[in-house]
Amino acid sequence: MPKFKFNRLQWFVHIGSIIPFIILVWDAISNNLTVNPIQEITQRTGRTAIIWLVLSLACTPFNIIFGLKPFNQVRRPLGLYAAFYASLHFITFLVLDYGINLSLIAQSVIEKPYILLGTTGFLILMGLTFTSTKKSMQKLGKKWNQIHRLVYVAAVLLVLHFFMALKFINTLAITIAIILVVLLIIRIPVVRKFFSKRQPYWAASVNNFLTGRKKKIITTQKLRN
Ligand code: HEM
Repeated sequence: MPKFKFNRLQWFVHIGSIIPFIILVWDAISNNLTVNPIQEITQRTGRTAIIWLVLSLACTPFNIIFGLKPFNQVRRPLGLYAAFYASLHFITFLVLDYGINLSLIAQSVIEKPYILLGTTGFLILMGLTFTSTKKSMQKLGKKWNQIHRLVYVAAVLLVLHFFMALKFINTLAITIAIILVVLLIIRIPVVRKFFSKRQPYWAASVNNFLTGRKKKIITTQKLRN
């Protein structure tokens, strides 16, 4: 039996990230994917991918603003789950929707700009996924951080893709866009500095709860990066 040394937050993230996939497979097996199953799969995988992408981007600000360091440990898995659902979304489009008909795909990329935005965002995400290993981090050194800032470019392109793919703008799209704008604002050095000076008194207790540790005192200094 493999031994997992996950804390509470990591278990929560892994289980929570697999659930949308299990529900999708279950609904597919039990023929419960509406009258247009391909569109339903495309929409569900696309929505899950964008939500998980934004969740992974929210981890660092959670640490900066609230001093919740355990969120740093789940940033990478959340990003990888986002890439997983984005791949399912892409495969559905490529195989189920377009039957790998390359000329038809090229035509739709030209005619529908949101497909081009989605493809560009997807390629960036894939590049970042394959360079998120420890080996790549060591190899790229300081450049790794610079390259991985591209995740924000991908997120902006994919939020635009989301809006343009919709017939009617919905609450999810607006919520995702607002969260992304807030996350981008928090990246501004002055704003980041302002928040990192403040830390709520409850941060240590929440961190202990999330990691399952008992009454360990974590100093304010340690909680920050
Ligand atoms: C490989 C590139 C991609 C292609 C070709 C593509 C294609 C599509 C298509 C055709 C739709 C419309 C589905 C429909 O309503 O009929 C769509 C919607 C969507 N896509 Fe993509 N997509 C790509 C990448 C991505 C990525 C990487 C993400 C997120 C990380 C994403 C998120 C979404 C979302 C959120 C929707 C709207 C779902 C809804 O209607 O609620 N897409 N995409």
